[in-house]
Amino acid sequence: MSRAQWSPRRWRDLPAAQQPDWPDADALERVLKELGDLPPLVFAGEARTLTASLAEVAAGKAFLLQAGDCAESFAEFSADDIRDKLKVILQMAVVLTYGAGVPALKVGRIAGQFAKPRSSPTERVGDLELPAFRGHMVNDDAPDATARIPDPSRLVAAYHQAASTLNLVRAFTKGGFADLAQVHIWNQQFVASSDEGRRYEQIAAEIDRALRFMAACGIDLKAEQSLHQVDFYTSHDALILGYEEALTRMDSLTGDWYDCSAHMLWVGERTRQLDGAHIDFLSGIHNPVGCKIGASTTPTEVVALCERLNPERTPGRLTLITRMGSTAIADALPPLLEAVTAAHHPVVWACDPMHGNTFVSDGGHKTRRFDDILTELKGFFTAHHAAGTWPGGVHLELTGDDVTECLGGFGDILEGQLHERYTTTCDPRLNARQAIDLAFRVAELLRA
Ligand code: PEP
Ligand code: CO
Repeated sequence: MSRAQWSPRRWRDLPAAQQPDWPDADALERVLKELGDLPPLVFAGEARTLTASLAEVAAGKAFLLQAGDCAESFAEFSADDIRDKLKVILQMAVVLTYGAGVPALKVGRIAGQFAKPRSSPTERVGDLELPAFRGHMVNDDAPDATARIPDPSRLVAAYHQAASTLNLVRAFTKGGFADLAQVHIWNQQFVASSDEGRRYEQIAAEIDRALRFMAACGIDLKAEQSLHQVDFYTSHDALILGYEEALTRMDSLTGDWYDCSAHMLWVGERTRQLDGAHIDFLSGIHNPVGCKIGASTTPTEVVALCERLNPERTPGRLTLITRMGSTAIADALPPLLEAVTAAHHPVVWACDPMHGNTFVSDGGHKTRRFDDILTELKGFFTAHHAAGTWPGGVHLELTGDDVTECLGGFGDILEGQLHERYTTTCDPRLNARQAIDLAFRVAELLRA
């Protein structure tokens, strides 16, 4: 099946995993038609710029920081929430760039990350066996059977929330908030009082001094746009294919198809079947795309995915996001690095150290240990150093809030504390302090 014969609706003829059982097919089609008439959220030219930046990552000249919520929430949606998430990502980027001397390419799991693949179609909540929560784009997380019925009007609500989120993200990143002169302001109170917050403050103070030094040397800092704005891109799991199809538009400049719901789209471990609808959909759009790769992936499979998603071997087009688990990565990753290198595929390799390390605590909370996350990251760097490939980036679930969802880190969250501020609608996220702690560790690994 070639790209020339591709159309945004071709996926409909293929087996599509993880699609909701929409109760009313006509209502769904009406909503998809409505979405198809709405403006795109991003432009093709922006997606091309991201591909070019990802090509720098593939070439070992930059590092990808892809981070945000596991599942964005319709309920937890405010300017403060978006700003605080941006703050953490900007702080992490500063730590990485300053600490390792490598430019950090910032891509959020934001403005569209509303749908979740699930391991089981049902879940137990107390005594109830309910249809699984599939993300606010599909159903509600409230523990009641009616709330779990898929409702297509949620697709439109997701579009509008994505649009206003993106609007604010653009304002924050281009309108002065992301100015390097604001580097202190990004440090939130609850972070600033911690060890890692103080470590961050040291870097911020050094950046201040460097800026003053450059100004004293006669460099016109005002004219240096890169000091005052950042490029920030959006991404999400292209799970609900009707939504993605409706936002896929032909670029008038090139005649190519772009999924204008986000700059970058990825498919997850549960939807990356070679003959499946999701891989076919990603194969036709011209955005940069990602594919999650679990520990059971074989070298043959990964090379076939590369051929399918990037037959022209365009650098920056494909990011492989490994999510293997802290104990599996040492054995599972090296054969894949070898196979992809031997096949001359110029991929970005990113490490998702979250999804292979999830477990349920005695108290019933889905959680992850900071130490396991770190161990998987170390395994990622070790495997790449041995293979001579570039450990190109990280893919993280985090929030700007002071949540208690992941165990450990400098704040040393214990199992008995998980219930205190556990607000995620899906997977456990790093809080801002743990995220900055992690950025320092990654900077050390990058320097080594
Ligand atoms: C996710 O990124 O939230 C996710 C579900 O990942 P994966 O598809 O790798 O399990
Ligand atoms: Co997740």
